[in-house]
Amino acid sequence: MPAFTATAPGKIILLGEHAVVYGRPAIAAPVNQVRARAVISAAPRRPSGEVLIQAPDIGLESRLADLPGDHPLACAVNGVFAELGISRPLACTIRITSTIPVASGMGSGAAVSVAFIRALSAFLGQVLSDERVSTLAFEVEKIHHGTPSGIDNTVITYNLPVYFVRGKAIQTLRLSKPFTLVIGDTGVASSTAIAVGEVRRRWQASTAQYEAIFDQVGRTVDFARNAIEVGWLDELGLRMDENHNLLRLMGVSSPELEQLVQAARAAGALGAKLSGGGRGGNMIALATEASAPAIAQALSSSGAVRTITTTIQP
Ligand code: PMV
Repeated sequence: MPAFTATAPGKIILLGEHAVVYGRPAIAAPVNQVRARAVISAAPRRPSGEVLIQAPDIGLESRLADLPGDHPLACAVNGVFAELGISRPLACTIRITSTIPVASGMGSGAAVSVAFIRALSAFLGQVLSDERVSTLAFEVEKIHHGTPSGIDNTVITYNLPVYFVRGKAIQTLRLSKPFTLVIGDTGVASSTAIAVGEVRRRWQASTAQYEAIFDQVGRTVDFARNAIEVGWLDELGLRMDENHNLLRLMGVSSPELEQLVQAARAAGALGAKLSGGGRGGNMIALATEASAPAIAQALSSSGAVRTITTTIQP
């Protein structure tokens, strides 16, 4: 029996993080330079039903039966089994590897889930629709993030730039021209669940103030969407700057993120902001093909542990 392989890209949130948890729109795009990969092969010599999971990047090698039921990988496997009505599969080994940095706002958890769910369902003889893959991955996201908006599993499953509103049908974006982003990693690992929890506590304490900030983010995202669709990159850059200021007001920036955002702007970025949960992780800078190398260099000199230059395509 051949091995079944599936991969899924990383992602970045262009605009709208955090406010998206509260029903405002956000825009995200896939990053195909980094990927999660799941390979499943039958293990006919092992007892029937035994599923062995190997994730060398996180030092995990375990039988499914030995993982706690609320482990993200157990949740993904059991979700696929339930979806397909399978109780005892062929014995198999599932190996997961990923080049997506973890805990840095690039959707590594969701990408692992999507690759895993696709490979496992193909191994079990049924290819699931994108919608079902995304829904199953969302269930796993709840373990990672507590109250996820669903944007990560959506953009990663569809592998297209999306305009996303929680609970609504996804809208893919029509870009009139490609644009280039330089992603800079602060190297500070940050848990999205903690950042989301902190914003929730502040929102509970000062609801009117936070609702007003989220409304402003929503307007900024809509202007940015329009800028993306007509190819007005100066305007998109301004909206990214504006969104960054609103994220600072929410308290999710950090000294390292501020340093990189400033360095990118000084090196000619059209706009720059933190991306994802914040408090560490990644920032993004809007560049042109010509300015991207200098911006990447400036980010590295200002402490970025990694830069990725990616072009978002129509
Ligand atoms: O840190 P990331 O890129 O996984 O994204 C988190 C985005 C939030 O809006 C902060 C949370 C969410 O579930 O949408």
